[in-house]
Amino acid sequence: MYYMASTELGDRLLSSLAGEYGTPLYVYDGKMIAERYDAFYSAFSGRFANVRICYALKANTSLAVCSLLRDLGAGADVVSAGELKTALAAGFSPEDIIYTSNSKSDSDLALAVDAGVIINVDSAGELESLGKIAAGRKKTARISFRVNPGVNPKTHPKIATGLAESKFGLHIEGGLALAAYRKAARMKHIAVIGVQAHIGSQIQDAGNFVDSARRLFDFALELKKIGIALDFIDFGGGLGISYQGAKSLQPEELAKALEPVIRDGFKRLGYRPALVFEPGRYIVAESGILLTRVNSVKKTPYKNFINVDSGFNTLMRPAMYDAYHRVRIVGRKGSSETYDIAGNVCETGDILARDRMLPKARKGDIIAILDTGAYGMSMTSSYNSQTLPAEVLVRGKRADLIRQRGEQDDLYWRQKIPEDLS
Ligand code: LLP
Repeated sequence: MYYMASTELGDRLLSSLAGEYGTPLYVYDGKMIAERYDAFYSAFSGRFANVRICYALKANTSLAVCSLLRDLGAGADVVSAGELKTALAAGFSPEDIIYTSNSKSDSDLALAVDAGVIINVDSAGELESLGKIAAGRKKTARISFRVNPGVNPKTHPKIATGLAESKFGLHIEGGLALAAYRKAARMKHIAVIGVQAHIGSQIQDAGNFVDSARRLFDFALELKKIGIALDFIDFGGGLGISYQGAKSLQPEELAKALEPVIRDGFKRLGYRPALVFEPGRYIVAESGILLTRVNSVKKTPYKNFINVDSGFNTLMRPAMYDAYHRVRIVGRKGSSETYDIAGNVCETGDILARDRMLPKARKGDIIAILDTGAYGMSMTSSYNSQTLPAEVLVRGKRADLIRQRGEQDDLYWRQKIPEDLS
């Protein structure tokens, strides 16, 4: 079977970390995160002067991972008040944070105005609320609008966002977005400084990004005609990886494909807005391995199951998106049996991997689930009253525990039993 190592984390290290910290355990390779960040940043900064990478926190919100990226020079893309506060806690400066969400409450908006982050407005209604909130605070909110460019990115339907029917953004089509900019430009407490589009996630085809970029520049030209100049154009995130371990679209190829559109766009505009990108998955996915221990091996007349000590509460992607993750048994080679890796959540759908040829598995073995650095820990839950996994960040010879394993008490945290029932 074709196999390409995701990270340089060797089996000896993985098995000692599982022994020391227990399972399930997320392990991240900090060196790989830095390499991926540098690859993305240099692909664009090698071609253009004013480039900013705003790491999409949602991929992995763990404070140490965010802090590592901040240290490397990243800004932050956040999608909730919680992520906004997390970004601040990880030390990102407010001016390097862009806050996107299709549904922000007044208190979310007030928090964003007070913090001084860039607010990526998603609707005319939100603009109106924001105008009032900023005026009430005698502050100026710096905003962009998320626009819907109507691009179909051909990815999993649950993570395609730029489709015409999607809930996200203001449509360029029909003049909705233009009308919002016109209105915002007249508002006293609003400063319009950018435009953003994010068409979806796990995109492998550069053509989708090119289409979206072209529409963004066309739109920026429309804005210029009504007297609006932009500080930045934000192309969103979405660069995919290969979960099969094959070659996938690289930032260098993406930058090469986008270069003519951007150069042409600059020429047409007659000025050069900064270029912002919001990658999440590409930066952290391949750096992460989920370690889970075999509780038992079960043979049935139809299938062989390896029952492990994690489930979709620990790694949601297979159940939610039918996602494929490579798996291997730490310290064992070869392939002799076909197994399903069965999670410990009491639902039929909780299969972490299907029909995999693996060495003969035994109780106590450690299974490594690869490419789980993105949308792994950040999507965990305590369903079935399971406690949350621990996390370790490896940098060279150093391995730091960055999140302690959850405990039973966490499950009761902030709950109350009415007196008559206790
Ligand atoms: N910017 C915005 C506004 C986004 O909504 C997203 C992802 C990103 C950036 C980062 O996209 P990325 O570079 O990571 O593709 N839970 C799903 C992925 C959901 C992505 C949602 N938005 C998964 O596990 O595949």
